[in-house]
Amino acid sequence: MSTLAQQEFCITLSDLASFMEIPPNQIKAKAEKTLQRKIKSPWLLPEEARQLLLAEGYKYPHKVISIQMLKGGVAKTTSVLNMGLRAAMYGARVLFVDLDQQANLSFALGVEDESLPVWVDIVEKKKSIDECVRFIEPHVDLIPSSLNNSVLDRVLLNSNRNWSLAVKTPLEKIKHRYDLILIDTAPALSATNTAVTVASDEVILPVNPDKFAFMGLQKNLSELEDIRSDFSLEFSRKVLFTKFDGREKFSHELLQKCIESFEDSLMKGYIRTSAEVKNTVRSGKSLYAGKSPIKADYDFVTREMLGFV
Ligand SMILES: Nc1ncnc2c1ncn2[C@@H]1O[C@H](COP(=O)(O)OP(=O)(O)OP(=O)(O)O)[C@@H](O)[C@H]1O
Ligand SMILES: [Mg+2]
Repeated sequence: MSTLAQQEFCITLSDLASFMEIPPNQIKAKAEKTLQRKIKSPWLLPEEARQLLLAEGYKYPHKVISIQMLKGGVAKTTSVLNMGLRAAMYGARVLFVDLDQQANLSFALGVEDESLPVWVDIVEKKKSIDECVRFIEPHVDLIPSSLNNSVLDRVLLNSNRNWSLAVKTPLEKIKHRYDLILIDTAPALSATNTAVTVASDEVILPVNPDKFAFMGLQKNLSELEDIRSDFSLEFSRKVLFTKFDGREKFSHELLQKCIESFEDSLMKGYIRTSAEVKNTVRSGKSLYAGKSPIKADYDFVTREMLGFV
């Protein structure tokens, strides 16, 4: 279904070697020993990377992570996409859930069919969650979105069931199959996003250097605090700095402000600005197949998300 070529969803042996801090010539021997086969390609399939990393003592998390920010265009979708694909390359079993009616994440993963079932069909009990899951690549599944989800908020608020559980309860049925469930959301404070927060173990809030970014972040954080106390939740929150431009004074100032204000919750990695990013969401091409400098940025924050740093 997706347009990704094999190299685009497999991790290279040289990337694994630098991650595991061993010389490149040793990684092949290590992988051949663990997998008990001759390795001819310069990369490993996600399942093979998983076997190797498990044998090396790495453990995969078991988490629902949502990316939220009421401000548009802060790189929510770009970050979900590139962190999820990279996590799968490291062997994690990933389910993407697109809950934005703009469906940019679904498009990026090659799913553009408006007739496919989406979350609103689950809530209205027209489809089961299993019927909504699409296979994308090994270790990558997607529950797509489409304009049909534009009524989701209204459906939730008109429902006489407990709408705040409308994301959590269906996910419980399939959660055991994945290490990471990554939810992309629309830029809003909405009933849908409240239900997403209720389902989340962790919320990542991207912030980028523009005028209203900090204000948006503070508003979003205070909304999350309200939801946390209203529903007695225990999710953690992380701030991810995106579109950092080293040539701009404002980028440095805002990053400094974030370091001072969110010491504990600011992710250690941040994402630099790069013109090549546009292609990854628009064309379904993986960032990791190209030479974009921010490949390394997303690699680092993915490892942070996986607990591999
Ligand atoms: N690191 C980056 N450098 C430059 N441009 C970027 C970067 N990350 C994302 N962009 C661009 O910024 C725009 C918004 O990105 P994206 O769609 O990921 O944001 P979003 O928060 O999901 O937006 P929305 O709120 O509309 O869903 C896109 O055109 C994308 O290509
Ligand atoms: Mg988006």
